[in-house]
Amino acid sequence: MKKYLIAGNWKMNFTSNEAISFVNQLILHLSELNLEQIDVLLCVPFTNLHPIKSFVNSNLVKIGAQNMHFEEKGAFTGEISPLMLLDAGCEYVILGHSERRQYFLENNDILSKKIISALSHNLVPIFCIGETLSQRQANLTFQVLESQLNVLETVPKEFLSNIILAYEPVWAIGTGLNASKEQIIEAHLWINDHVIDRFHVQLPILYGGSMNNDNAKDILECKMVSGGLIGGASLKILQFIDIINTAISLSQQG
Ligand code: 13P
Repeated sequence: MKKYLIAGNWKMNFTSNEAISFVNQLILHLSELNLEQIDVLLCVPFTNLHPIKSFVNSNLVKIGAQNMHFEEKGAFTGEISPLMLLDAGCEYVILGHSERRQYFLENNDILSKKIISALSHNLVPIFCIGETLSQRQANLTFQVLESQLNVLETVPKEFLSNIILAYEPVWAIGTGLNASKEQIIEAHLWINDHVIDRFHVQLPILYGGSMNNDNAKDILECKMVSGGLIGGASLKILQFIDIINTAISLSQQG
């Protein structure tokens, strides 16, 4: 049976009251479901972590962050450390999201430090990779994915199996243009095979990019798709619950 991870990436949305209200509604719903075959995760803004911590039952919903600094503490104004994330109840952290690569110039060097730091603090990194539209149009998709995956060369081998990958084609993020089933299957199979060949480990691969309750079934049933990393639709409680229900029914079908 496939075990799905359904992860919301709230990005820079929701004040603490909005976050608490969302989490309460979500928990009410989840407490009536059989969650054996699915994990639900919310990656929220730093300022929402402590406010929702006391409302979250980690058997139902897990909590993650969207970024972190690699150092434990020190003179890094405006940054948040892995120790602070653990203190706030995080189990996961998104690293290398395309918005961080684009707006905050995160590159392989910095992502290597962040991933190693997360792993050594027992935080599960959700490492995002994906090509831009111009890279896809220039037939560079797999070259780009390969170079982003170079980061894994730097991770100590004993840690590798704790990483989750997320394939997020940049052109599909926030655009309403999700990748087609064929594109998703092609990319996920390529990533899966490449990681096995090169690093001798099989990692879960989430899909992210305009996933919603209408396309979730088609996406989640694709080969090698282990779940979703959901932006816009994770802010709408009914849509998010619908996606969770879809994952549960697919996992029950085997
Ligand atoms: P959207 O679902 O809004 O396209 O965002 C996807 C994403 O960036 C998840 O990390």
